[in-house]
Amino acid sequence: MENFSSVCLRLKSNKISILDQRKIPQEEVWLEVTTAAKMHKIIKRLSVRGAPLIGVCASLMIGVLALEKTNSLEQLKEWSEYLKTSRPTAVNLFTCLDRMLVIMKTNEEKMDETNVKGLLVKEAEAILKEEVEMCERMGEHGAKLIESGDNILTYCNTGGLATPGVGTALGVIIKAHQSGKKIHVYACETRPLLQGGRLTAWELAKNKIPFTLICDNMAASLMRKGKIDKVFLGADRIATNGDFANKIGTYSVAIAAKLHNVPMYSVAPVSTIDFECESGDQIEIEQREPKEVRGVRDYIWAPDCNCYNPAFDVTPIETVSGIVLDVGVFTTKEIQSGALKKLKK
Ligand code: MRU
Repeated sequence: MENFSSVCLRLKSNKISILDQRKIPQEEVWLEVTTAAKMHKIIKRLSVRGAPLIGVCASLMIGVLALEKTNSLEQLKEWSEYLKTSRPTAVNLFTCLDRMLVIMKTNEEKMDETNVKGLLVKEAEAILKEEVEMCERMGEHGAKLIESGDNILTYCNTGGLATPGVGTALGVIIKAHQSGKKIHVYACETRPLLQGGRLTAWELAKNKIPFTLICDNMAASLMRKGKIDKVFLGADRIATNGDFANKIGTYSVAIAAKLHNVPMYSVAPVSTIDFECESGDQIEIEQREPKEVRGVRDYIWAPDCNCYNPAFDVTPIETVSGIVLDVGVFTTKEIQSGALKKLKK
C-alpha cells in the first residue's frame, strides 16, 4: 500500500498509525493499529474520530488486512461488517466499508482470491485519495464565502484530525487564512468531550490562526452582540432533504444564528450524504456513556445520577444558509428544490 502521512494518520510499510485524539493536546501519542478489533476499539472510544476519517481508517484497515496471505475473503467480509458496528451515526463509515464489501462480493466468483485482495488494496487507496481531494475542493469553495475581517464561529473539530486532509469546516477556515484573509475564529469547546477545546484549539494554534476559545453557552450572546459574522461547522450524515446530523449542540448554534441573521454553513464531502435517507428524522443518533456528562476524562464532578448523552443532534435545513460540498456551495433554497438527490452517482 502506498505510504501516506497526515496530521493524525500514517501509513508506512503497510502499517497504520493513528495519533490518539483522546490525549491531545497534553500528549501526542501514536498508536499502531494492526487488527480489526483494535481499529473497532479506537473508533468507538474516539482515539480516531470525525466522519470522513473513521470511514477512511476502517477501509484502510481492511486493505492492510487483505495483504496478509492467511486472511480469507470470508474473514475480510466479517471484519468489514464488524467495523460497521463501531459507531452508528456518521454515514462515511458505512459507505466506505460497503465499497470494500462490494469489491469482494462482485469479484469473488470471477477472480482468484489474490486478485480480489489486490482490488481491495486499490479501493482503500482510492477512498483515501478521494477524501483528501474532496477536502481541498470544499476548502476552495467555502473560502470564497469568507471575507477579510470576518469573525467566524466553529463547533466541534472538523480539521486534519477529523479527515485525512485539510478538513471540512476547519479546512475552509484554514484555506481562507492561507489565502491572506485576516480572520478571527471563535471555537466552541463542545461539551461533553471537548473536541473544540482540545482539538480545534490545537489545530488553530498549529495553523497560527487567531482564535478565542469559548464555552458553548457563550455563542448566542456573542451573536446578539454582533461579534460573529459567519458560522462554519461539519456534518456526520446529510439526508437528501438537507437535514444534517452533527455534533450535539449544532442545532442550538443554528437556532441562535438564524435568530440573529448570521449566515451558517455545514461543510461536508459528498460522501457524507446518505442517499437512502430522506429526512433527518431517519438518522440514528449514537448514545454514549453517562460518565462523559458527569465529568471529563477520569475527573468526575457530578454525583452518580441519570444523564442524557446523545453524541449528535439533527439540524433542519431551514435553519441554515446552505451546505458547502466538494462539488460546490448549495443554498438552502436549492437543497429544498432537490439539489442533493441529483448528486447520487
Ligand atoms: O464524535 P465525533 O468527534 O466523531 O464528532 C465529529 C463531528 O461531529 C464533526 O463535526 C463531523 O464529523 C464532521 S467534520 C469532519
